[in-house]
Amino acid sequence: MRAPMSEEPIVEPVVAVIGATGAVGDVFLRVAEQREFPMKQLKLLASPRSVGKQLMFRGQPITVEDTTEQTLEGADIVFCSASSAVSKQWGPWLRARNAVMIDDGSAFRMDADVPLVVPEVNGDDLEWHKGIVSIPNCTTTPLVMALNAMRQVAPLKRVTAASYQAVTGTGAAAKAELEAQIGHIGRGEPVPAPTVYPVQIAMNVLPQVDDFDEDDYTKEELKMRNETRKILHLDTLPFAATCVRVPVVVSHSEAVHAEFTSEASIARIIDALKSQAGVVVTEDPTTYMTPLQAAGDDLVYVSRIRRDPTVEHGIVFWCVTDNLRKGAATNAIQIAEEMLRRNLVPGAK
Ligand code: A2P
Repeated sequence: MRAPMSEEPIVEPVVAVIGATGAVGDVFLRVAEQREFPMKQLKLLASPRSVGKQLMFRGQPITVEDTTEQTLEGADIVFCSASSAVSKQWGPWLRARNAVMIDDGSAFRMDADVPLVVPEVNGDDLEWHKGIVSIPNCTTTPLVMALNAMRQVAPLKRVTAASYQAVTGTGAAAKAELEAQIGHIGRGEPVPAPTVYPVQIAMNVLPQVDDFDEDDYTKEELKMRNETRKILHLDTLPFAATCVRVPVVVSHSEAVHAEFTSEASIARIIDALKSQAGVVVTEDPTTYMTPLQAAGDDLVYVSRIRRDPTVEHGIVFWCVTDNLRKGAATNAIQIAEEMLRRNLVPGAK
């Protein structure tokens, strides 16, 4: 087990993972192993389809169970990465039983009584949790980490962004669809009609992530705006995004224009990014990170920082992060670690 960070005894919660067989669930297990997340017991839960499957954790097989009141009973911390419907089904039930649900979905993110947290940015918001904590969308997390550093230099005035999002953000079925399409193309065969995305994703890009919503923006674009505002506590920050799905398996990239209310030199922006936990900045403007390079670790890589000549105080940058790790599983585990450290998990006190 992990060495204690302070004089306090190690608390070892009973942990359940809903969606253990999914794209994020799999990464969650690996990150929990690597970080030696303390736990008394781990329950791996999914849909009835997966009952009886075995998943390895710390060298031991664990049998996947159905997600039911019986299998969730006694859990202190429940990580949920399944669907909004599943989160909504179990969140209130767990909350009523003094458990904490750390939810990867969008079901509760904008609820006034649910903290939406990136520990390096707004860990203090965990203090007012009421049993459910949401983790942000996988495009929001890296963005707020970069913006939070930059706003130490000058207040933010306006942000616009374009994302280039990997298929694993949609789930395991989307990865399988991309790989199958690449296989068909490689063999010179016709590509069957897609079932996950509205059009073929291999050799293509889709300017649509999630469904269309208000003002002709997609839900993903609105999530990015609303979540950024909530995490940074900037309720009216002018913000517009275009979210694009690209034929990349892991790591989301973003091209971001940030405008400030006063002078924010590149040198000071770079210094601020260097001081932000979890961010790695590339100072040479001709060197950059790609999704392949960012895949497999927990860092937010910021590169190609340059002035935006179209506004008085603005910069443009490129940001790349593993969407399954810091964009999802790692952030969820960091939230749990922070909650244990702050003694905020009722059952683990
Ligand atoms: P299963 O594999 O049994 O379908 P992904 O994001 O990769 O698509 O994964 C979604 C995850 O959510 C999977 O682990 C999936 O389990 C799980 N899931 C889907 N529906 C339910 C449900 N009704 N209850 C619990 N877990 C579910």
